[in-house]
Amino acid sequence: MEAVNLRREKLARVFLVCLWLWGFVTLSYAARSGVSKQKFEVKKHLNRLNKPAVKSIQSPDGDIIDCVPITKQPAFDHPFLKDHKIQMKPNYHPEGLFDDNKVSSSSTKSKDKEPHIPQLWHRYGKCAEGTIPMRRTKEDDVLRASSVKRYGKKKHRSVPLPKSAEPDLINQSGHQHAIAYVEGDKYYGAKATINVWEPKIQQQNEFSLSQIWLLGGSFGQDLNSIEAGWQVSPDLYGDNNTRLFTYWTSDAYQATGCYNLLCSGFIQINSDIAMGASISPVSGYRNSQYDISILIWKDPKEGHWWMQFGNGYVLGYWPSFLFSYLTESASMIEWGGEVVNSQSDGHHTSTQMGSGRFPEEGFSKASYFRNIQVVDSSNNLKAPKGLGTFTEQSNCYDVQPGNNDDWGHFFYYGGPGKNENCP
Ligand SMILES: *[C@@H]1O[C@H](CO)[C@@H](O)[C@H](O)[C@H]1NC(C)=O
Ligand SMILES: *[C@@H]1O[C@H](CO)[C@@H](O)[C@H](O)[C@H]1NC(C)=O
Repeated sequence: MEAVNLRREKLARVFLVCLWLWGFVTLSYAARSGVSKQKFEVKKHLNRLNKPAVKSIQSPDGDIIDCVPITKQPAFDHPFLKDHKIQMKPNYHPEGLFDDNKVSSSSTKSKDKEPHIPQLWHRYGKCAEGTIPMRRTKEDDVLRASSVKRYGKKKHRSVPLPKSAEPDLINQSGHQHAIAYVEGDKYYGAKATINVWEPKIQQQNEFSLSQIWLLGGSFGQDLNSIEAGWQVSPDLYGDNNTRLFTYWTSDAYQATGCYNLLCSGFIQINSDIAMGASISPVSGYRNSQYDISILIWKDPKEGHWWMQFGNGYVLGYWPSFLFSYLTESASMIEWGGEVVNSQSDGHHTSTQMGSGRFPEEGFSKASYFRNIQVVDSSNNLKAPKGLGTFTEQSNCYDVQPGNNDDWGHFFYYGGPGKNENCP
């Protein structure tokens, strides 16, 4: 009996070991194929995002800028754009009060005739006419996103909702704003000159940006938005550099739209400016100040929304078919800053907005927007009527508007986030 029992026990043990081995092998196989499936997905996505380059430029910040033939850009992956004839310049250009060259700005001073292009990669080369510079997306960029599909998209609806807002929408997943805005009219464009800084970000999943929003529709599921400005976003770019960006959506940040050229939509015609590339130089506290001008306007003939950067770099356009409400006009314009306050340690984040200083500190300390203008139905740049301001918690980030001959309508904005009045 003893021997039989022993043999039975031995058999049982061998069986268990086999079972365990089998389980181990199938599990690790499943895990491995899971990893390779993800790798495959990432590769496939990178192949979609990055286009064949005729030349690549290594930027000192680690970026690779690909010069891609204009007809090979991501926009033309869109089924509606297969037969689209690229418009190489807008039919109309808004006329305005402020000649940018007249306004003193250290960023436009340059010894030689060539205008200074405030992007880092330009020190190492340029793209030829007929090509557009595209920041190459790397595997790491995609892997930092919550999923391959969400890469290049905003995580949450992130439009400041001044007063028409429902109260429960005001604290949108910790997004905080300090903005100026106009509403109640039909707007055909907006402009501003934005002071450029490099705000500190407390946590990788937070960001700090300064931008213009052109909004159409109510704040429902079908909100249309066109956005442009500068941002620091470690999640999106893998570093703390200040970068030029654009964004668009026609369904309140759900299925449509993306940053920069990370989906098909925006049609770029410019060979000098790369969206998503670092802006350089940036302003220093009580030191040299730098700013960028952004103008977005609707071409009254074709209906496309055009974007201009600086004094005359027409970047390209968002075709009007991308939108619903914005095919007509914008119903609200906002200018200002936004940060994410993740409150991971129970305190307010110390992620900075603007320069990280409050508006009352003024020039060369606090960040500003100046020469704020809107485009009216006659395609004229005009001072904004009834400029309002909004911030969720002015003890954390604030905004202070003003008006004078040199700067027209302007405001200082921003703040340090966490401080003794914003615990
Ligand atoms: C938003 O959140 C802040 C801090 O968490 C709070 O003080 C404020 O009352 C909230 N606002 C609304 C409208 O819920
Ligand atoms: C970005 O800045 C944070 C602190 O503000 C720092 O911890 C992090 O290492 C920086 N990231 C890079 C890539 O430099």
